[in-house]
Amino acid sequence: MIQMFHVTKAYPGDPPALVDVNLSVEKGEFVFLTGPSGAGKTTLLRLVFCAEPATRGQILVGGRNVARIRQGSIPFLRRNMGVVFQDFKLLPHRTVLDNVALSLDVLGVPRAEARQRANRMLKLVGLQHKTESLPLKLSGGEQQRVVIARALVNEPALLLADEPTGNLDPELSQEIMSLLQDANVRGTTVVVATHDLPMVERSGKRVVRLDRGRIVSDAGGPTVVRRVG
Ligand SMILES: Nc1ncnc2c1ncn2[C@@H]1O[C@H](COP(=O)(O)OP(=O)(O)OP(=O)(O)O)[C@@H](O)[C@H]1O
Ligand SMILES: [Mg+2]
Repeated sequence: MIQMFHVTKAYPGDPPALVDVNLSVEKGEFVFLTGPSGAGKTTLLRLVFCAEPATRGQILVGGRNVARIRQGSIPFLRRNMGVVFQDFKLLPHRTVLDNVALSLDVLGVPRAEARQRANRMLKLVGLQHKTESLPLKLSGGEQQRVVIARALVNEPALLLADEPTGNLDPELSQEIMSLLQDANVRGTTVVVATHDLPMVERSGKRVVRLDRGRIVSDAGGPTVVRRVG
């Protein structure tokens, strides 16, 4: 699903955010990305989402080389991705249902069908009673569930989540993680960047650890230890 070969991302004036990263995520995997603040977790997810180009190296997403993809091809690629990113907020003046349905509208799904699918997704995240609320009337955990519903409503092949449980208490974090795992069971490949080490350790899933832009370990999950390099 994702292949990165010798990927470096450098911002002018700083040491590179990613250095010679090699990473392969298979279809159907669930992978945590961890590491200290500034390690490059968000940068890695942003490169896969084509929010920015890589400085060097190759990135294949679903077999397509996206490292230097043309701007015009990006929306097409993103049809198969759902994202939970901090800079991708809910629209405050639209209802919960609209927020989820809009991501299908932009893909050209007919309005009635989009609303039906959004309703179904909101039920899956336990928010069927909040569909007509405005996002700011919801609790933090509920808002995050709307964000997850929005990311998953298109049944994406790939879900990228950046600190999806940031600022949530342990119980709510567990709830959000269960939603991501359910999506994984339904067939979505999931990559989650997080600081929440206890949660990562409890999960028994594959953990890729970054430090200063390099992958320093990659272990757990279906294959016990992978080669780092
Ligand atoms: N747009 C940018 N311009 C310049 N430098 C950037 C930019 N984005 C990230 N960086 C730098 O790249 C490095 C990696 O940042 P990144 O956000 O990927 O880290 P992170 O692992 O997600 O950290 P955190 O856990 O704090 O979210 C940092 O040193 C950061 O300052
Ligand atoms: Mg980050």
